[in-house]
Amino acid sequence: MNAAVVRATPESVPQLVASATALFAEDGGQRDPQLDLGWPRREGTAYFTELVRRNDSLCLLALSPANSAIGHLIGRIRRPDPLRPSAVAGVLESLRVDPAHHETGVATALTEEFFAWARECGANQASVTAYAANESAISFYRGRGFSPFELTLHAPL
Ligand SMILES: CC(C)(COP(=O)(O)OP(=O)(O)OC[C@H]1O[C@@H](n2cnc3c(N)ncnc32)[C@H](O)[C@@H]1OP(=O)(O)O)[C@@H](O)C(=O)NCCC(=O)NCCS
Repeated sequence: MNAAVVRATPESVPQLVASATALFAEDGGQRDPQLDLGWPRREGTAYFTELVRRNDSLCLLALSPANSAIGHLIGRIRRPDPLRPSAVAGVLESLRVDPAHHETGVATALTEEFFAWARECGANQASVTAYAANESAISFYRGRGFSPFELTLHAPL
């Protein structure tokens, strides 16, 4: 892999917003007609500025040798709730790699960093949600040790 994985800083929030905007277009934009594609541009700066400052969230960027952002990962810690009191989940909220850099190990490096961070935060499981039609992401996650747990079903009304 010819990329460096770094923590995002307040100065790199615009790069997170750009990568999240591209993710909305490439993933949900193809698979979810109700997704608000304008959300990252409208709300992303405030959202990621808050996450970068919190210690229960992880904002990673993958940088090319020329120092441009070629991917991102957002992780959160979900504290136990009364129904699952022993579960501390590291939630992989968002992951994207620029298509020009696919299949070179960038997402794997981001995900390994996320696993290490989640363990350090006391998480005892990791979870991620993907569109059922996003076969490449599901294949990627399966290769990193994830397996299906719950299934969300939709019906048009
Ligand atoms: C899914 C994604 C993050 C993978 O990133 P990547 O940097 O190419 O992944 P890596 O090079 O680290 O890992 C490649 C692994 O994923 C698998 N993979 C990646 N793309 C795949 C595809 N199109 N079909 C099948 N498997 C695929 C490879 O088989 C490989 O597995 P292996 O290491 O076990 O052999 C990337 O394709 C992406 O950004 N997709 C668009 C955004 C997206 O869908 N994000 C996830 C939202 S839930």
